[in-house]
Amino acid sequence: MSDLLLTMISISSSISNWWNLQNREYLPMGGSVNMIEESLRLAYGEDSEFIKDKRIAAVQTLSGTGACRLFADFQKRFLPDSHIYIPTPTWANHHNIWRDAQVPQRTFAYYHPESRGLDFAGLMNDIKNAPDGSFFLLHACAHNPTGVDPSEEQWREISYQFKVKNHFPFFDMAYQGFASGDPERDAKAIRIFLGNGHQIGCAQSYAKNMGLYGQRAGCLSILCDDEMQAVAVKSQLQQIARPMYSNPPVHGAVIVSTILGDPALKSLWLKEVKVMADRIIGMRNSLKESLEKLGSPLSWEHITNQIGMFCYSGMTPEQVDRLTNEFHIYMTRNGRISMAGVTTGNVTYLANAIHEVTKSN
Ligand SMILES: Cc1ncc(COP(=O)(O)O)c(C=O)c1O
Ligand SMILES: *[C@@H]1O[C@H](CO)[C@@H](O)[C@H](O)[C@H]1NC(C)=O
Repeated sequence: MSDLLLTMISISSSISNWWNLQNREYLPMGGSVNMIEESLRLAYGEDSEFIKDKRIAAVQTLSGTGACRLFADFQKRFLPDSHIYIPTPTWANHHNIWRDAQVPQRTFAYYHPESRGLDFAGLMNDIKNAPDGSFFLLHACAHNPTGVDPSEEQWREISYQFKVKNHFPFFDMAYQGFASGDPERDAKAIRIFLGNGHQIGCAQSYAKNMGLYGQRAGCLSILCDDEMQAVAVKSQLQQIARPMYSNPPVHGAVIVSTILGDPALKSLWLKEVKVMADRIIGMRNSLKESLEKLGSPLSWEHITNQIGMFCYSGMTPEQVDRLTNEFHIYMTRNGRISMAGVTTGNVTYLANAIHEVTKSN
């Protein structure tokens, strides 16, 4: 109740925000300047020197998908012979996005099925074996679909090897805040790369962490050599956007900049993001404990080791089919559970069903 009051006071006290929410004019081609600024602070850090030095070319995008696609088109236009290295597995749409942008794809090792964790050795090998100056798509946090992220130490090694090979990291950050509950912590991988002097690309989405799925609120940023290059890159990004959709939608952008631009609203948002992430972490613990209580002979450590919205359970397509047909539980056939859909009311039902379909093998 007091939180709601705080929100209302905060909103009504700001006449300009109220006006902004009524305004249905076109945004500039690059999108809302306030929204972009707030997005950069979130991704690169409140006091980032790169923001101060105006080294980042950034445009508001049609959520995370639009950011990825705009980058892919940019890559194709200016480096037509380049490839994109994509992790195995990845969010399926990544393949479609770079395919339609006509950028040829290669894959790099990521998931280790036996340990249901990271194939770090395979990943490092593929980074080393890629031609110098390759483009890599990295999930900044809460890897989809596996929920497997490199540790901080592993990110440091990856960043070091990228430096040696002069690779370009493109971070897709669709879940900032959803992994640890803290957007700052979830930006750690990006910050490590920034600290090592990389130029990077970054796709941000407010679909998950602000629940703005249908508003299509996102940001594409590219860290450049200097301000002049950033101005040129931004102008080229706008050139690509203009014949595609002219300018991005206004309402979601105003919601984002209103929340992030107001300290009271921002701290309320941070609290709510943490509630969401902690609830998912709590459900992971309950699911694992329930399976252990049922006497499952299998290891379910990966349920709590993995992070973010998804649990890559390791169940086979046949086991998933049994869950659907016998228990009316639905998930993708690769065994990916959306932990956001599990509650205290049905976690034991889910555990029972998983135990039933996995115990015989
Ligand atoms: C890894 C990843 N990237 C990007 C997105 C893009 O989502 P949106 O376009 O709704 O921001 C998603 C959504 O599921 C995702 O999982
Ligand atoms: C658990 O309950 C939630 C909320 O009612 C529902 O959305 C979800 O589908 C349920 N999941 C399972 C596995 O029963």
